[in-house]
Amino acid sequence: MDHTALFAALPGALLPWYEGNRRELPWRTDREPYHVWLSEIMLQQTRVEAVKGYYSRFLDALPSVADLAVCDDDRLHKLWEGLGYYSRVRNLKKAARLLMEQYGGAFPRDYRAIRNLPGIGDYTAGAICSIAFDLPTPAVDGNVLRLIARLADDHRSVDTPEVKQEVRDTLASVYPARAGDFTQALMELGATLCGPNRPPECAACPARTLCLGYRNKTAPSLPVRSPKREKRHEDRTVFILSCSGSYALEKRPPRGLLAGLWQFPNVSGSLSTAEALQVLSKMGLQPRELRMELTRKHIFTHIQWDMKGIYIEVAEPGGGFTWLTAEQIRAQTALPTAFRQFFEEVPYV
Ligand code: ADE
Repeated sequence: MDHTALFAALPGALLPWYEGNRRELPWRTDREPYHVWLSEIMLQQTRVEAVKGYYSRFLDALPSVADLAVCDDDRLHKLWEGLGYYSRVRNLKKAARLLMEQYGGAFPRDYRAIRNLPGIGDYTAGAICSIAFDLPTPAVDGNVLRLIARLADDHRSVDTPEVKQEVRDTLASVYPARAGDFTQALMELGATLCGPNRPPECAACPARTLCLGYRNKTAPSLPVRSPKREKRHEDRTVFILSCSGSYALEKRPPRGLLAGLWQFPNVSGSLSTAEALQVLSKMGLQPRELRMELTRKHIFTHIQWDMKGIYIEVAEPGGGFTWLTAEQIRAQTALPTAFRQFFEEVPYV
């Protein structure tokens, strides 16, 4: 498909619009590579509104790559608590250590070198190089794929590596000198007027006169996506064990799902109350009062946990768990949302 003229006209249409319509966001006040990197990692799979507070808190705590490289994992997890996809923050630290060892803590001005860092794919490398260094490297995420599919009236599935690469190549060939602004203009239009899950606001769009999806009235039904894989469901029983105002917690294993984060003790399967009491007795704990039971779900990338939370007051703290007060849990532990939702329901904290 050849839309050379259409794409060549994009910078001229989008840059003035971006100038006048960009949202003021905490990561748009400077172009420091560390800041661009952090914001782009946080913004993967997470909404702008949710990221704002995390971004500022993270940089207050760890103002430089050098601080990130030596940050203790528990503290790092606490700074990320609730954002999900915790491997993102572990990779941030790994990459920070490499930047310290190999580049004296500064980002190299080189796409391949940045792309080789842990946790940095084509999208993030493109965003850092263009926004921080004005290099002509597109950052193609879901927002940009939707925008381009509509502009080109392209009905192929946008989530194939071939289409993504083609979009990157096409955009790279029309990048203007103001590369960082162009990257952000594409993201901004794709996130706002041409955003997901609602009809595009074509009347206000700066690219309307170029847009084939607008001309052919196909924009609202684009992009085409491949069908998503069904998530696997797993039943889990979660024990919210309390003893005189303290709660039983344990650390998850260092590898796999939610690695190294804290959790309430839990087992596979949906246990009856009687079965749950048996498990408790095997842990060497003596139930004093069954307080309540709740069901909650939590959705990960590939799995959904269907969870039953059983709240039990026990006679003595034990079972090899770490017993912490509600205050200590709030202040010190990174308790991921899957488990935190049960903590927030505790009526007596
Ligand atoms: N989504 C991904 N990157 C973004 C950015 N830099 N600004 C706003 N939304 C985004």
